Amino acid sequence: MSYCMQIAVTDRAPSPQIDRAPPRLVDERALLREGLTRPLPEISARYLYDDHGSALFEQITRLPSYYQTRTELQILERDAAELLTLAAPTRLIELGSGAGRKIRLLLDAWPTGQVDRTCTMLDINERFLRDALAALARDYPQIRFHGLVGDFQRDLPHIPKAGRRLILFFAGTIGNLDPAARRAFLRQLAADMDPEDALLVGLDLVKDPRRIDAAYNDPEGVTAAFNRNALAALNHRFGANFDLDGFAHRAFYDPVAARVEMRLVAVAAQRIQLTDLDLELTLARGDELRTEISCKFTRDALTGEAAEAGLQLRAWRSDPDALFALALLGRAP
Ligand code: AVI
Repeated sequence: MSYCMQIAVTDRAPSPQIDRAPPRLVDERALLREGLTRPLPEISARYLYDDHGSALFEQITRLPSYYQTRTELQILERDAAELLTLAAPTRLIELGSGAGRKIRLLLDAWPTGQVDRTCTMLDINERFLRDALAALARDYPQIRFHGLVGDFQRDLPHIPKAGRRLILFFAGTIGNLDPAARRAFLRQLAADMDPEDALLVGLDLVKDPRRIDAAYNDPEGVTAAFNRNALAALNHRFGANFDLDGFAHRAFYDPVAARVEMRLVAVAAQRIQLTDLDLELTLARGDELRTEISCKFTRDALTGEAAEAGLQLRAWRSDPDALFALALLGRAP
């Protein structure tokens, strides 16, 4: 079962108000079972982001080898004001907001003359969202904040419709969706957008494979810990008995598919019980589980995918080394 919870924070009501949207039935166990019994067993990347996983991802964003976050921040520092002028929003909506560092650059550049400025943040991790909203409400008392605890894929129908919206999807997270899921996600957004709404998407770009490989194989071992933590999440949530030390981190860039695959490799033969799924998983030494994909983009590829979904590229901003880009999209006429 998944639910979506709403939190409202204003300067007049500093303690968050929480509403719950009607629960929707999603059979997590059936989905997990289906993934684990594929020829290449798969665990949804959703399980990477429990409290510990979200904190580890936050650490990843500060690693020297993980160029993505600092590059996206640099582009935003340079171009936030211009992007805001192009989109002229009265409401910002950030999907998968995490610690809320990037939104600050937009809030700082948002013209104060704009009345009724509202900022909605959606994140799957309630603790992160509460902390981020509390800090933002304190630092930007003129802006109304609103939180939505939810999944950016499943809970799009619950994002607010009012205002001239600029929907933000940073970090290159769109690349964590496979092409079919990405198509469905972009189509759903396009169908829901008014002609004056806009979507700003962060994209990790195709580049020297060695640079990409290094970003997912940090010598500090944080990405490895982040990857293995998916197993701890399954132990906790589904009564599984994965031994985290029984798996090695593996991440590699496939230049043909233009994507990174993150996997866990069994270091010895093993049998894992997943009690709540009534499933026993038998792995030979060297067998792999896929935990995440991370697709990389070119401007042409993104423009094509957007057009297929009914969206049009309105602006493209990148860094001088073309490592990362922000694409501003609007509904195609
Ligand atoms: C959240 N997402 C954009 C990250 C990425 O680069 O695909 C997740 C990540 N996985 C390993 N390192 C970072």
